[in-house]
Amino acid sequence: MGFHVDQVYLPQPCSICSMYCVEAPKKGGATFFSDTFAAYESLSGEVKEKLKDSRALNCCLQQLSAICATPAEHSAAHPVFRTHPLMGRKSVYVCMGATRKIIGLSETEGKEMIELLFAQQARREHVWTHSWAPGDLLLFDNRRITHGREGFDLQERRTIRIVMVAPELPF
Ligand SMILES: [Fe+2]
Repeated sequence: MGFHVDQVYLPQPCSICSMYCVEAPKKGGATFFSDTFAAYESLSGEVKEKLKDSRALNCCLQQLSAICATPAEHSAAHPVFRTHPLMGRKSVYVCMGATRKIIGLSETEGKEMIELLFAQQARREHVWTHSWAPGDLLLFDNRRITHGREGFDLQERRTIRIVMVAPELPF
């Protein structure tokens, strides 16, 4: 699964997520965490200026609606550059698979911008990878981290218990 923000399709996504590993595959299944402050800071001044007041439309991930009971029609518009409420720093707040368009831009231009923002999130120097072992517990700030999952052999089991708390309105 590509980089994403949990619950980004809701008006108030959770702020903090915890992940607890019950079972891990022998190979693969790691979680990637991307620093979206760094993604923002690495953008050109031109792109920062162009998108400074833009909002993006985020829709429920198709994968989620297939495996959870989340209605596929859930969607929410959020700032492309979210400001962290405690740290005051800006981040790239888009989500692979969920961000469909940038409101006010043509489809072509919006797509180009979204691809550019995804590429910044996925830059190797912005990503930290955690390989799971049973008993591992991770907490992360869903307001400023995007995360994704490495593939693994589906004959093996990977069980991660996830708790999402403290919904907040992005600004
Ligand atoms: Fe997730």
